Amino acid sequence: MTMDLWLKLLALACVCLDAGVVGQGTDQPATTTTTGLAPTTHPTTPTQRLTTSLTFPTTTAAPTTTKQPCGEKFANVNVIYEYDNNTETFHAKVDVDGKLECQPNQTCGNKRVDGLPECQTINVKISDDSCADPPKTLELHVPPGPGNFKLDECVDPENADTSICLEWTITGGMKGCLTDNITYSHQCGKFTLTNKKFENGPFDPHHNYTCSSKVFYGNHLVVEKIQTIETDFGPPDLPSNVTCESVNATHGRATWKSPQRFFHNYHLCYNLTNSGPLNCFKLNKNKEEYNWDNLNAYTTYQVSIYAYVIGKVQRNGPAQTCTFETESAAPSEVQNIMVKALSDNSMEVTCVPPVQFNGPANGDYKLDVKTGGTLVTSDSKRKCKFYVTELHYSTEYTFEVYYHNGNHGGPPRSASKSTSYNSKALIAFLVFLIIVTSIALMVVLYKIYDLHKSRSR
Ligand SMILES: *[C@@H]1O[C@H](CO)[C@@H](O)[C@H](O)[C@H]1NC(C)=O
Ligand SMILES: *[C@@H]1O[C@H](CO)[C@@H](O)[C@H](O)[C@H]1NC(C)=O
Ligand SMILES: *[C@@H]1O[C@H](CO)[C@@H](O)[C@H](O)[C@H]1NC(C)=O
Ligand SMILES: *[C@@H]1O[C@H](CO)[C@@H](O)[C@H](O)[C@H]1NC(C)=O
Ligand SMILES: *[C@@H]1O[C@H](CO)[C@@H](O)[C@H](O)[C@H]1NC(C)=O
Ligand SMILES: *[C@@H]1O[C@H](CO)[C@@H](O)[C@H](O)[C@H]1NC(C)=O
Ligand SMILES: *[C@@H]1O[C@H](CO)[C@@H](O)[C@H](O)[C@H]1NC(C)=O
Repeated sequence: MTMDLWLKLLALACVCLDAGVVGQGTDQPATTTTTGLAPTTHPTTPTQRLTTSLTFPTTTAAPTTTKQPCGEKFANVNVIYEYDNNTETFHAKVDVDGKLECQPNQTCGNKRVDGLPECQTINVKISDDSCADPPKTLELHVPPGPGNFKLDECVDPENADTSICLEWTITGGMKGCLTDNITYSHQCGKFTLTNKKFENGPFDPHHNYTCSSKVFYGNHLVVEKIQTIETDFGPPDLPSNVTCESVNATHGRATWKSPQRFFHNYHLCYNLTNSGPLNCFKLNKNKEEYNWDNLNAYTTYQVSIYAYVIGKVQRNGPAQTCTFETESAAPSEVQNIMVKALSDNSMEVTCVPPVQFNGPANGDYKLDVKTGGTLVTSDSKRKCKFYVTELHYSTEYTFEVYYHNGNHGGPPRSASKSTSYNSKALIAFLVFLIIVTSIALMVVLYKIYDLHKSRSR
């Protein structure tokens, strides 16, 4: 009987609900009846209507039961550190949803913690209404300030045309920071490196590269330096169409065209082949010709020319060489001319070769023998040693000697000498005179003897 009554009451409640008779006043009793009903539903098999009536109260009851622990809710909090140049401290922006309370609470306005010194570990408590105590304790590992790092260029000047070198140096103490958490990165052109020192290549010479170098502390970007690095000039290339030629015995000329790549000046050297010091000098970059005007005749000169640039160091291009030979010219005069009498009417003429042949050294020595301005005889010899015979006795002769190198004759040098009297003829005459005198004397003596004999008879 009591069961029937309960069922009737239940049916009535269901009718009321179906009819929509749920006001503000009726809402509260309905929940109380269902909470009371819940344990009793288990024995009876619930109808479809029953289940719907049961789901309704459980949804409204849920929020009051459990709260998520704060430690769980704020397990992965993103913290962004920003450096303030003026105060030289950091502020940390704590990226959380909802209301945030932190301790000490006065530094926590607007979800940020101000005035954090570098390299300190500071605990901050976070909680909000929707999570259960205890509050989440967040450790703020304050990064080092940007002033602790300096970026230096470290390129070796010799390689500055094709390589770039950048290196971070730590200038501050950073006490309290974990040095293992400091990482570096460099990016120049197409090269990327995650070392403290960046040294890489090859880069193109004389080219601007943008390099970005960064220091990180964990995920925090401590400092970034972006700079444009201009690589040094590369060495110039070869001057083109280099020619050199002799103009005459004393003049020579070299011509060329400028090399393709950039350069500052030329360096030109010339050289007497096999001898003499190298003569080198700088030539302006817009020159395309060089003239010599006091060269030695009949001499081979070697010329070398290269272009250079001056960057961090001087870089020389390759040298182009050429040679030319000056024309021959008149040789200088022979030296030490000597005339020696070999007999009363023959002479030997000798000399020492000229100082400058100015042409082939296998030319001829020429001798002209003159007396009273007229040429008597001439001779030509490979060596400067002449024999002149059958000269007139007691006559003054002039001997002129010069060297002829095949193309040009040099100026003559002369010496004079007289032949002596004919000594043989004189002796013969004296012998004849003595004989004649002797014969005459004998004739006289005979005459005297003959006269004396005839008187004595
Ligand atoms: C801080 O100072 C550095 C150099 O002194 C400057 O490059 C940087 O822009 C400054 N940052 C701010 C936020 O003022
Ligand atoms: C937070 O600050 C208020 C006043 O600014 C103070 O009354 C309160 O005690 C502080 N709470 C804590 C936990 O320090
Ligand atoms: C590199 O940049 C500097 C500054 O803008 C400029 O003066 C220079 O001519 C540039 N060099 C090259 C090779 O482009
Ligand atoms: C430092 O490095 C350790 C180990 O890699 C890491 O667990 C820690 O979170 C890092 N600290 C910071 C502040 O990045
Ligand atoms: C160099 O010489 C070559 C051939 O000898 C010629 O074709 C070229 O035009 C010359 N170059 C210059 C810059 O004069
Ligand atoms: C050589 O040539 C130059 C230039 O053409 C001229 O001035 C000079 O007189 C010449 N010298 C000789 C020795 O011919
Ligand atoms: C200069 O002369 C020396 C000796 O003959 C030779 O070795 C050298 O190559 C020459 N140099 C030039 C630039 O002509």
